[in-house]
Amino acid sequence: MMDVGRHPNIELLTYSEVEDIRGYVGNFTAHIRRKARYVDEDECTGCGDCAKECPVVVPDEFQMGLGSRKAIYIPFPQAVPSAYIVEDKECLGQNPIACGKCIEACEKNCISFDVQDEHLEINVGAIVVATGMDVYDPTALDEYGYRRFPNVVTSMEFERLVSTGGPLEGHLGRPGDLKQPRKIGFIQCVGSRTQNPEKGNPYCSNVCCMNTIKAAQYLKDNYPEIDISVFYMDLRAFGKGFEELLMRSKASGVRFIRGLPGDIEEVDDTGDLRVTVENTTAKRLEKHEFDMLVLAVGATPAMGTEPVRRLVSLSKSPSGFLKEAHSKLKPVDTPTKGVYIAGAAESPKDIRESVTQAGAASSKASILLNKSKFSIEAITSVLDEDICKKCGQCASVCPFAAITWEKKQLPKLISAACVGCGNCAAECRYGAIKMRHFSDQAVYAQIDAMLEENSANKIVAFACNWCSYAGADTAGVGRMAYPPNARIIRTMCSARVNPEFIWYAFKKGAPVVLISGCHYVDCHYIDANRSTVRRMDGLWDGLEKAGLRTDRLLLEWCSAAEGGRWQTIMKETEKKRQSVTSEEIDGTRTALEDAKIPRPRNPKASDENQDADFVCMRCGYSWKGNYRSNVERICPQCRSNSIRWLKKKKNK
Ligand code: FES
Repeated sequence: MMDVGRHPNIELLTYSEVEDIRGYVGNFTAHIRRKARYVDEDECTGCGDCAKECPVVVPDEFQMGLGSRKAIYIPFPQAVPSAYIVEDKECLGQNPIACGKCIEACEKNCISFDVQDEHLEINVGAIVVATGMDVYDPTALDEYGYRRFPNVVTSMEFERLVSTGGPLEGHLGRPGDLKQPRKIGFIQCVGSRTQNPEKGNPYCSNVCCMNTIKAAQYLKDNYPEIDISVFYMDLRAFGKGFEELLMRSKASGVRFIRGLPGDIEEVDDTGDLRVTVENTTAKRLEKHEFDMLVLAVGATPAMGTEPVRRLVSLSKSPSGFLKEAHSKLKPVDTPTKGVYIAGAAESPKDIRESVTQAGAASSKASILLNKSKFSIEAITSVLDEDICKKCGQCASVCPFAAITWEKKQLPKLISAACVGCGNCAAECRYGAIKMRHFSDQAVYAQIDAMLEENSANKIVAFACNWCSYAGADTAGVGRMAYPPNARIIRTMCSARVNPEFIWYAFKKGAPVVLISGCHYVDCHYIDANRSTVRRMDGLWDGLEKAGLRTDRLLLEWCSAAEGGRWQTIMKETEKKRQSVTSEEIDGTRTALEDAKIPRPRNPKASDENQDADFVCMRCGYSWKGNYRSNVERICPQCRSNSIRWLKKKKNK
């Protein structure tokens, strides 16, 4: 941090918040609010005279609430700059000045309550997002008694308790009575690796095993008399030198017990804790007593991650961490050009991994900035200004904010920010947006060719380039045979599939049409396949209105690795095709001739919250739920994604 602060090419803006980011690769404009510190950071020597006089005492966040600080404080010992700030929500001296003791105490006169927040506008070429992570709050896990028993602490609190800069200045004591504990137990995987959402998160938090082993070893090195037990499901010591550290801590007497405690109770009023655990190695129920218990809490996405994700149009994984462009080949890139991720913003990781990733992200950014020209793929969209009706729908669906629009104005397409997903082209009902590649003409030509002969025997399948098309490839490479009458049209994203393509295919005699894309949260264009789902709902409604069988149109998510799933999808689709009679196919053309192509708008928030009916187009299973909790659209019975949302009919 100090090096960063001193680096001539780095401008460090601390105590600041990014409020808005506009623009595109090579030309972003960031709007930043520099919060008022009320202390001149260049003049402040950090002497602390002001804090001594400040009468406001509040829990110290850096000490996890185990210590206290004043309303004028240095956030943490290594803070850069090492200058005081006034927390205006806590200070008595704000509006109107009622105290002002810090001003009197400051010999250098560097405190002033007249300063205001500053608003900066900075032009940058690339952005690295490093929002870090938070830790899981185990209060909800009643069995561990966190907050009920004072001597049950989290691993973060334990760090502060043993730290020389902590509230006990390095003297180990338990929070209940500050006595030095003789027996300490560590409980692993608290809030991690559970399928029960009320008990935490399904993912492994990556760092907790080694953090516990490190803490146990520290205790053994400094307090060899302390008896230490670690309760675990399994230990993950896979990094460089980690296995050796685990062996060292076993050799120094740390006891590792395989099994997670089911219950913790306090022993009388002593503050000691009794743990009941099933030792799954010895296959017996055991009781252990400890003076202090440490919960190895898992990691969660940092609170600031979601607002930043929205600002720079990034996608997130189901766990809430930011998603990289490609997990193997582009681990620090994001789907938005010119934006990179580093550290625990992407997934829980330790310092070594974070440093590696930060280095990679900054190198990528500097490679980009050192280019005199940045080439983009020609696979972008273009606007036909003569056809455009200035409705702005294209801008509302672009996941990358590559289209800007003002009311009654022509939309502006920013080619540098466009990644060619085709969502805008599929959304434009006037055909005013064209794709330079995967053009409408190319798609229509493919439909014509595949349905020219023997159309009743064909399956028309649209597959997105990144997942479903690759899934079909995996099936082929793995020799997983699927019906040879399937004809696949590749699009960049499932959101490129214009409802008009479906109508056209049905009119041309297609018995069934399948749209397939990446799993809901895996769309390579942030959340473009949300538009696919919305359009599917409209198309099913349209088919029903035209008196046609809605289950002739299917939707499935399939990843690149799921060759087997692709095989099953195609086999099931073939069964569906066989159920479509030639009379139905013949009747389709006339039925759709005058039918309006449905163009559904985004569901309203009121729709999303209301209970509605869902029905599976594959197996016919139906259930009630709300739109939000069914965004992934998975049939609980057959796991298909062809789920139709039956909107409530309005009473006329
Ligand atoms: Fe596959 Fe969007 S890229 S569905």
